[in-house]
Amino acid sequence: MEETEIILSLKNVYFETENYDILSDVSLAIRRDTFVNIVGKSGSGKSTLLKVMSGLQIPDSGVVELFGRNIMDLDYDGMLPFRKRMGFAFQDAALLSNLSIKENLLLPLSFYNKRMPKHEKEEKIENMLAKIFMSNSINLRPAQLSIGEKKLISIARAMIIEPAILFLDEPIVYMDATMAKSMINLIKEYSNKEETTVICVANSKNIITELADNLILIDNGKIVMSGTKNDILSMESDKRPEIINDVLN
Ligand SMILES: Nc1ncnc2c1ncn2[C@@H]1O[C@H](COP(=O)(O)OP(=O)(O)OP(=O)(O)O)[C@@H](O)[C@H]1O
Ligand SMILES: [Mg+2]
Repeated sequence: MEETEIILSLKNVYFETENYDILSDVSLAIRRDTFVNIVGKSGSGKSTLLKVMSGLQIPDSGVVELFGRNIMDLDYDGMLPFRKRMGFAFQDAALLSNLSIKENLLLPLSFYNKRMPKHEKEEKIENMLAKIFMSNSINLRPAQLSIGEKKLISIARAMIIEPAILFLDEPIVYMDATMAKSMINLIKEYSNKEETTVICVANSKNIITELADNLILIDNGKIVMSGTKNDILSMESDKRPEIINDVLN
């Protein structure tokens, strides 16, 4: 069987502060069409890792390869073709507060699809909002939404350009069980589409059991274990890092 293409890899990546390493000698490879979930304690470096993987943050040393190209030496313009193929939903949603929900969703569409007709963009936004049951919020500002709703919109904003790689930082925090369930279904639908890769940070049993193919466990900026979900979940619990046991309990 032909091996699936490696779509993203990190080699010996370090991200340093004066006093300690936020990421320390991180190497990993992610195949196309997989769902990878990153697990780790608060402050372990998960969000930093996700930003480095997506090219949003350039590390101090090492190599980051996206779609087979080392991006360490690319400038803003050089990064644009890569950005087009990636969507990122930030941990804190990071919506633009002076724009309406519609305008927030319009931004990536207009930026990356300059030739898309206006009615097509509007249709995409309306369909996306209908999917997350937020059609009535189209003209509201982010400040008028709950934190969970802001997260929904930020994930919708990341998905709307139909990226090849979708990065999600803690997608279901601040959501009640019902909202989390519909979020998980939306992500599942996305990741089941052909040739989409999802890289997600979540200490969530539901996300791990329902969505993940592979797991990466991080502690103090180092990868302490990685592999298929099935391999890691079938290990004896005393052979695994504590964090994964905490999440699964
Ligand atoms: N640019 C920076 N300069 C200095 N320290 C930073 C910087 N970015 C992150 N840190 C620190 O690096 C560590 C890892 O941060 P990061 O946000 O990646 O953790 P996390 O695992 O996502 O945590 P959480 O679960 O709370 O979101 C933290 O101690 C944070 O304060
Ligand atoms: Mg974080």
